[in-house]
Amino acid sequence: MGSLVDLKKRTVCQAETKMKGNPYIPMSATIVERIEETPNIFTWKLKLDDEQQRKDYRFKCGQFNMVYLFGIGEVAISIMGSEGDSFLHTIQAVGRVTNAMSKLQPGDHVAIRGPYGIGWPMMESKSRDLVFITGGLGCAPAVSAIREAIKNRDEYGRLVIMQTVLHRHDMLWEPQYDEWRKVRSTQVLLASDRDKTAWPNWKKGRVGALFREAKFDINHCTVMCCGPHPMMTGTSRTLVDMGVKEDDIYLSLERNMQCALGHCGHCQMDEAFVCKDGPVFTYKRIKDVLERRGF
Ligand SMILES: Cc1cc2nc3c(=O)[nH]c(=O)nc-3n(C[C@H](O)[C@H](O)[C@H](O)COP(=O)(O)OP(=O)(O)OC[C@H]3O[C@@H](n4cnc5c(N)ncnc54)[C@H](O)[C@@H]3O)c2cc1C
Ligand code: FES
Repeated sequence: MGSLVDLKKRTVCQAETKMKGNPYIPMSATIVERIEETPNIFTWKLKLDDEQQRKDYRFKCGQFNMVYLFGIGEVAISIMGSEGDSFLHTIQAVGRVTNAMSKLQPGDHVAIRGPYGIGWPMMESKSRDLVFITGGLGCAPAVSAIREAIKNRDEYGRLVIMQTVLHRHDMLWEPQYDEWRKVRSTQVLLASDRDKTAWPNWKKGRVGALFREAKFDINHCTVMCCGPHPMMTGTSRTLVDMGVKEDDIYLSLERNMQCALGHCGHCQMDEAFVCKDGPVFTYKRIKDVLERRGF
């Protein structure tokens, strides 16, 4: 395993996200809004029911919550952002718990534990170019970081946002990407792999097709990448070949989670626990595990 130095630094900068109270006890929350993104993807706006818990709740970009549906089960979901005293989760219905969640409506209750994990290195990346590379719904963990960078636009260098999907209709929040395109010194590059039709502002192909147009300083950039594991591994190797340092590339990983507190071992990868040492890791730290067959 690679150095723990970057991890400790980021732990310090995220200290304010430490939960008050018992981290095992879920907090009740109400669904205040439900947006149907696609037939199997929906976004919830959630509000904690207890006023004091609402005041105390803080998260950092890239962290996640454990979302519990009473009597069914609990799943890890990235925190997409906040609106006032509510926060957002975008969820894809893939199995037992998420399918049951997809049937809930505004006014229904769930329970929340969190926020958990070490997120994106926003503090350490001040003045650097930020390169966001996302694939499919894997873009959810990056959205909060993109919003944060745009909110504090003067604190960062160029922003390059690259999103790839299989088909254009898989692309969530396309209007939002059009808005980001208008932000100063910001490049938005989109590609679909399988579609034959060409659209304005869209490329055909995978991430490699976008790299040819991306403009950023390879010696002074932070890359934040999330998506399917083969896509993250391939992208990281290409970036390293281009000259980007392995510890300037950050990847957000997903593993099956139970406790989210580093106790049960479900999310363990060698010495690292994705729930408490991640979900965001440098490529340098995690590449040996990531490239191992069967991971
Ligand atoms: C840190 C983190 C952040 C996440 N953020 C989001 C998010 O923002 N939105 C979202 O929709 N999902 C997210 N996930 C994935 C989500 O936790 C799983 O989809 C969920 O646990 C599936 O539970 P289920 O009971 O519905 O499906 P299950 O019945 O448990 O499984 C259904 C299928 O999904 C597969 N699967 C289950 N868990 C995962 C996983 N973690 N990764 C990949 N495949 C899985 C199973 O192998 C199976 O094929 C995140 C996971 C982690 C670890
Ligand atoms: S989920 Fe239990 S150790 Fe990570």
